[in-house]
This record gives sequence, C-alpha cells and structure tokens, in this order.
Amino acid sequence: MAQQQIWYGGDYNPEQWPQAVWAEDVQLMQRAGVNMVTLAVFSWGLLEVADDQWDFGWLDRIMDQLHQGGIKVDLATATAAPPAWLVRAHPEILPVAADGTRLEFGSRQSYNPSSATYRAYATRLTRKLAERYGSHPALAAWHVGNEFGCHVARDYSAESAAAFRGWLERRYGTVEALNQAWGTAFWSQHYTAFDHVEPPRATPTFPNPTQLLDFDRFSSDALLECYLAEVAVLREVTPGVPITTNFMGFFKPVDYWRWAQEVDFVCDDAYPDPADPASPGLAAMMRDLMRSLGGGKPWILMEQAPSAVNWRERNAPKPAGQYRLWSLQAVARGADGVMQFQWRQSAAGAEKFHSGMVPHAGTETRVFREVEALGAELKSLAGLVGSLCEPSRVALVLDWDSWRALEQAAVPASLDYVAQLQRWHSAFWRRGLGVDFVPPEADLSAYDVVVAPAAHVLSQAARQNLAAVPGRGGQLVVAYQTGVLDPDLHVLLGGYLGAELREALGVWVEEFAPPALVAGQWVPELALDGLAAGPATDWAEVLHAVEAEVLATFRAPGALVDGQPAITRRPAGPGAGAGGAWYVATAPAALDALAAAILEAAGIAAPLLPAGVEVARRGGRTFVLNHALEEQRVAVDGAAVVVPGRDAAII
Ligand code: GLA
Repeated sequence: MAQQQIWYGGDYNPEQWPQAVWAEDVQLMQRAGVNMVTLAVFSWGLLEVADDQWDFGWLDRIMDQLHQGGIKVDLATATAAPPAWLVRAHPEILPVAADGTRLEFGSRQSYNPSSATYRAYATRLTRKLAERYGSHPALAAWHVGNEFGCHVARDYSAESAAAFRGWLERRYGTVEALNQAWGTAFWSQHYTAFDHVEPPRATPTFPNPTQLLDFDRFSSDALLECYLAEVAVLREVTPGVPITTNFMGFFKPVDYWRWAQEVDFVCDDAYPDPADPASPGLAAMMRDLMRSLGGGKPWILMEQAPSAVNWRERNAPKPAGQYRLWSLQAVARGADGVMQFQWRQSAAGAEKFHSGMVPHAGTETRVFREVEALGAELKSLAGLVGSLCEPSRVALVLDWDSWRALEQAAVPASLDYVAQLQRWHSAFWRRGLGVDFVPPEADLSAYDVVVAPAAHVLSQAARQNLAAVPGRGGQLVVAYQTGVLDPDLHVLLGGYLGAELREALGVWVEEFAPPALVAGQWVPELALDGLAAGPATDWAEVLHAVEAEVLATFRAPGALVDGQPAITRRPAGPGAGAGGAWYVATAPAALDALAAAILEAAGIAAPLLPAGVEVARRGGRTFVLNHALEEQRVAVDGAAVVVPGRDAAII
C-alpha cells in the first residue's frame, strides 16, 4: 500500500439516503478527517437490478463526488447479499441449515458458498465492477464480499454435500483411507463408497468427530474458494489494485492462517463489548492476531463501532474517550487504518440502532465530536504508517483444528479455546509485552518463549517443532489438553502429548480429572501449593513428572489429584543454554508468578503494569494506554508517565 495517512473512515452506504445528503456527507467527511470509505458492500440489488441489467449511475456519481472531495474508496465487490430476483430465479443458491431448514431471502448472505450459480453471478458482478472502476482515481483497494462465513459458516444443501464428497475424495483418494482416518469401525460407520457420505447433519446422537472436523475444514475451504473466484477476476482485470476481505478476530469457522496468504493486506472487524471490563485485553489479543496473520506487517481495522452496536442483548455505548483509546490501541498494535461501521447511522433496516460516525441526532453530538477529534489525531500520527511493532519475543500457538476439536461434544470437559489463549495472552499483555500468534508448525526460532495452551491436535511435525524449543535455549510452555490427538483426531496413546513432547517435558499424563461446575462451584475445589499458589480452575489431571522438577502441586483433599504435580519444568540438557520445558496441568488463578518465572528464565524483563494500563511500542513511539478510570503513573524507559483515566500518552 502506497499509503500516506492512517486510513480513517468507514462503511458508507449512500444508497440508503437521498442524493441530496451525499454532498453533505462528503463535506462532513472532510471535516472529520475521513480519507477512506468502504463502498457498495450491500449494493448488488441496486447495481444489477435484473439479470444482466445494470445501474451504475449512482455509484459513478458517488465515486466521482468522493474523489473530488479527496476521499479514497475501498470498493466492495458487492457480492455479500444476492438480490431477490436472483434468489427467485435460482432458489438453489439459498443456504440450508443442519436441520434441513432453507434460509430464506430477506436479510443478507443468502447464498451457499458451493453454489456454482452464485459463483457465476458473483464473478460476473465482480468483473463488471473491476472493468468499470478499475482505473477510477478514487479506487484504493478491493473489498471482496464481506465477513465470509459470518452468518452462514456451514451449508448443508445437496450442492454442498456433493462438493464435500469431492473434497473428501481429493483429501483421501480412497474410501478405505477415509474409513481409517474417521475411525469408522466405531458404531458401524464404515463406508463402501464416497457417494454414501453426507455432511454431518442433525443426527440421533454424537456424529463422527473426524467427519465433523473435515466438514469444518471443507466449509472454510468452500468460502475461501468463493473468495478466490472473485480474486481471480480482480487480478486479471485490475492487477495493480490491492485486494482484501474483512476478518472477524477470533472466528472459529474460518481458518485465517490459510486465508491470510490470499489477501494483500489483513483487515479486521472488531466489536469488543464496551461494558465488559475484560474487553481491552481481548481487543489487544485480536490486534496481535491480525498483526501475526500478516506476518508482522501493518493491518487495517476495517470495522469497529463508534459507540454502541445493536446485536447484543443490551448494547452499551462507548463511554467518552473509549472510542479514541481503543482506536489508538489498534494503531499501537500495528494498524494502519481505523475504520468504522458505519459512516452515517441508518434510519431504516435491521441496523438502525447501530451507532454511526454521524449519529441520528446529527453533528452537534458527543459521538461526532469524538469522531472529529480522532480524525485530527490520526492525521498527526501519519508518520507511523508502514512502521512495524517492536518484535515480540513471546509466541502463542493458535491452531484452528485444535479449536474445533477441543470444542466438540463428548469430550472430558467443555473448554473455551479462546479463553485458554486469553489467559496466557493477558499474563503477557499486563506486562507490556506484544505477543505473536503462530501456527504449530511455524518457524519458532525468533521467540524466547513459546506457549501452547490446549493445542489439542498436533501433527508429528508440530510436536517435533515445539519439542525443539528448549534445545535451542527457548522456554517451551505447554498447558493442558495439548497434543491429545493427531490431525485425524486419533488419540496419541501412551500418556498423551506424543512421544516428542513427553520427552521434551519429562512428563506423562495418566488420567484426566477436570473439575465439574456444580451450582457455580468447582467440584473438586482445586488449589495449588508452590509456584502459582492459590486457587485453580478449569482442569486437572493425574500427571507424572519423570524427568522434571515439580514447581506446584494440587491441593484438593479427597480428590484424585490431591498432592500430585500441577506445574513442572524440565531444564534442557547440558550445552543447551538456559532452555526449559514447562508443563501446566491446570488454570492457576495466579498466573502472574508463573509468567514472571518463565520470563525470568527467558531473560525478559517486563514488570507488571498498574491494572488497566497497556504499553505498546511501534515505529519508535511508545503508547501508554490507560483503560482504567483512575489516573495511573507508569515507569516507561526509566521515566514516570502520568496518564489520566481512560486516556493515552504517546511518547
Ligand atoms: C459486521 C458487518 C457490517 C455490520 C456490522 C455491525 O461487521 O460487516 O456490515 O453488520 O457487523 O456491527
């Protein structure tokens, strides 16, 4: 991106307004420092008004008006919501839910990603737009579709079932290989032909776990194919124009490690709940994910709410200052753009109560004043465009197969995968450390600390990759429910973890013993003695430390794990520097002492920051963000910095 300014603006839906409003929009955008808008995301029905009948007049006009106003356009391919005439002519493009319900026209994303008809119409529209606007001076980027998989992550139609069978044939080659991978000797699930395989629709009881996982993998790939079909057209017609689509943070249905390779720059839509005190930490984690998906390169915050959303049970507005603070957080953690949903708050439709940069009440409002102020501030930060964040020394393993498998039914305890990641991310975030997310087979050599929480599904290559960390002087931290299954979801026998990690960690696991939640209480109640002394939650297991020192033990009178190891560490062998392999068999409430010990072993000095304070470094600037309400005093590089409540200092 040959970018001069931090992108600032948002989704712009001029078609919802009389053209008389457009001139005012452009004027207000200029006043607010808006330099980029995302246009035409849901405009298909107003662009192709009937089969192959086009009305580009309005889009021509607004593209020109924006250009004259000095505002660039992230132009959507408009394929996210097929129009009524198309659905009526080809009802087979409608998606079908697992229980067989056909999802009707009347909201958005009414298409099945495997539909050849949908793809044909979508790519024709893409071509028309590319040919018409490819050399328009306002065009900055292509925005393909919108939030792929957001509403229809899996489709169970006959066409998708056929595509799934094709995907399985390509993956397995023979039906015997599928039988082997899926473990179909269990419950008489043996297949004699690919034709007999269906998506895991509503079944009498638990479906085959590998069938489920393969359908998840297939569904992510089907959406990706849909995206790539449009990308192919754009690359052909407008080879120089960058292409993206908007991701959705930690979004389980779509494997962003695969998708990130197919975008020219990574974008994210992030809507942390303003009412949730945990949101700043969660938002920081999403920012770190986006930076990591792009290999460290700047990314774009493509959507956030200027204030409230409309899709929660109760929708808190952003209190004064939070819009700015969370926007600066994105910049601090690598964003080169701060975009909103949406420019002008809708007067009709399902999102009329979702905030906009121009609220219902107009411009003499708190929201618009904050919008203007942020526009000015971002302009002053233009020097950061293209700059990188301080390199992270800590990596957190993130794996979509593990996420999907961990959260399947019929497991020892239902665990929330993202919560497992967040626990560790937060321990480092609270010390001002940036964390990179990595897939399990990534090159880990840049990291001094590699943490793998609930990396449930690991290939042999991944297990070897992780097991090699201590030998080259790094700290490997493995937390429970890691290395339990291979990529076909077959158990790694002989004490879980796989031989490579058992060896590296010097432990094996005999039995799982997770506490249950009974009337809001953990039973048994777990506590830890030693490092991380205090209560523990979520998980316990009978762990044997063979070649590892025991740093903490369970205290749970009467329970299986009482007196058993809970946290262990195996120092690497002689000549291997100061490497170490830590195993953590529970979720200690007091993770800070453990994190401190790990960081100390890694030679990383990062004291705990005052509660609510975040420090991030990028392009030679240090961002001190105070998410707390009270003023905080923070020592940054030897100097004391005082930051008022819900405010930021950039030094
Ligand atoms: C998503 C979509 C937008 C809008 C917002 C509302 O991010 O991309 O079109 O629906 O949610 O929060």
